[in-house]
Amino acid sequence: MYNFRSLLVSALSLSPYLATAAPTAAIPTELRILPLGDSITYGYASPDGNGYRLKLLNDLKADGDKVVFAGTVHNGTMVDNWNAGYPGKTIQYIGSQAPSSLKQYPNIVLLMAGTNDMNANPSISTEGDDPKAAISRLDTLVGQIFKAVPNTVVLLGKIPNIADAGQETRTQQFNKLVPGIVTNRANSGQHIKLVDMSVIQANQTIDGIHPDEAHYQLMGDIWYQGIKALPSDWIQKPVGPDPVRS
Ligand SMILES: *[C@@H]1O[C@H](CO)[C@@H](O)[C@H](O)[C@H]1NC(C)=O
Ligand SMILES: *[C@@H]1O[C@H](CO)[C@@H](O)[C@H](O)[C@H]1NC(C)=O
Repeated sequence: MYNFRSLLVSALSLSPYLATAAPTAAIPTELRILPLGDSITYGYASPDGNGYRLKLLNDLKADGDKVVFAGTVHNGTMVDNWNAGYPGKTIQYIGSQAPSSLKQYPNIVLLMAGTNDMNANPSISTEGDDPKAAISRLDTLVGQIFKAVPNTVVLLGKIPNIADAGQETRTQQFNKLVPGIVTNRANSGQHIKLVDMSVIQANQTIDGIHPDEAHYQLMGDIWYQGIKALPSDWIQKPVGPDPVRS
């Protein structure tokens, strides 16, 4: 819709006749968003438990977009606090839990995972902490998403930086490989874009892992910008009814 808008703006500047027409309001977009990942998606250690999700919601609502969150876990003070964030869990575990959320047919999936896979502690990085192997699992999870919801859009996040030196080295190796997933899949026609959460530094976290409140907010803005930069024809109307919450 943003592409449409900029086309409209250039049309306006070219045509003195159109220039007198009343400004057209942006058409509200129906978004059923699945926040998929680990504790950062869950909003762990954020004061209100909303993490990035409330800021993202408010940014989208300001544009008139209609937003429903998908997911089968919830946390945070916001009313629609649903997500699929699994604190302390790896890509493989997140993938094992994803089917119930994917059944809600999100038209956008925000996937940010791998932080726990890079942890040196084998009771956390249960599949090992090798960055390349983790990237392969991440690619498998992306494939799983498109198989379950072929018309969805995936925004794939690079992960934030980490205070622990060893984990940070692996995190940087992991992050270097994330764009390859996006490029390969986009080349084969899948609707996937990269979103860079590695702009968040270890000194912008509260505990060396989880963003501080200001940077949870920044994450909300970054997801928002990622959604708004999508090609206008990528976002399909959500399939089926919104998830029933009771
Ligand atoms: C969010 O989750 C954390 C950790 O499980 C919990 O301490 C907190 O009470 C939850 N907050 C809300 C508002 O649900
Ligand atoms: C925070 O960390 C980044 C990356 O290591 C560094 O460039 C920056 O100077 C640090 N900022 C402060 C205030 O320490």
